[in-house]
Amino acid sequence: MPHPPALVASISGLREHLAARRTLGPVGFVPTMGALHEGHATLIRGARKGNATVVVSIFVNPLQFDRQEDLARYPRTLEADAALCETLGVDVVFAPTAAEMYPEPLMMGVTVGRLGDHLCGPSRPGHFAGVATVVLKLLQIVQPDRAYFGEKDAQQLAIIRRLVTDFNLPVTIVGMPTIREADGLAMSSRNRRLSPEGRRAALALVRALTATTRAIVEGVADAVAARAAGQREVREDDAVRLEYLEIVDPATLQPVDQVRGPVLVAGALWADGVRLIDNMPASPGPH
Ligand code: PAF
Repeated sequence: MPHPPALVASISGLREHLAARRTLGPVGFVPTMGALHEGHATLIRGARKGNATVVVSIFVNPLQFDRQEDLARYPRTLEADAALCETLGVDVVFAPTAAEMYPEPLMMGVTVGRLGDHLCGPSRPGHFAGVATVVLKLLQIVQPDRAYFGEKDAQQLAIIRRLVTDFNLPVTIVGMPTIREADGLAMSSRNRRLSPEGRRAALALVRALTATTRAIVEGVADAVAARAAGQREVREDDAVRLEYLEIVDPATLQPVDQVRGPVLVAGALWADGVRLIDNMPASPGPH
């Protein structure tokens, strides 16, 4: 029978708790903003496999919201999250308040360079700086051996990998594959805000990514032409708007003009007033 995880809200309490557990073996860490779903469960199962202790943080980080309305509407489901953590064998849930994480306004912060210039960066000013800053704080607080992030947030993952390199953080970052619903929609805490109609309309994003990926595999090297194949899949109306559909280098996240090797096809779509993102890797097929 799994034990309920220790629910810890203070940084000092977490440090005390972990000090006693570090001798047992590696610490695996899954940072989240709560509203946990199967995608998070996959990260947690990954962490459970290779580590003696698994810590999940649940913190809706105000620093990474560019729209106050989004912050206010972000689902907060601590009780259900803790229950899921229990079934997954999590040892510690770290759920600090904003006052615990930011007792006073920060004077310092992480600046994200050109990894933040494209994809979600232009439409979400300050978002990735906020993510990188809170992840740096969380990694300092938890001091895990490994930290787990989803590949669905490819830009976030690339930025965190670079954060760890640039600041010599002693942690291994593990990227975990995107988990999809049966119809292909990438799992996200935001999906629960979609109406049934919006949920159906949101599938246009998967179709757009799939069509672009297919064009690349079939030998379309010109990025404009490959993207056009995807754009055709989205019939914009009041319910749906494609914010971007880009083909980028997977490491630098810079757009490519000609696809000559592995790339990342990434998109953002508004459905029902909810912003959804997704991505797929692609490589030119043998021709
Ligand atoms: O991916 C998320 O849920 C958040 O951006 C993260 C990494 C927990 C930082 O707040």
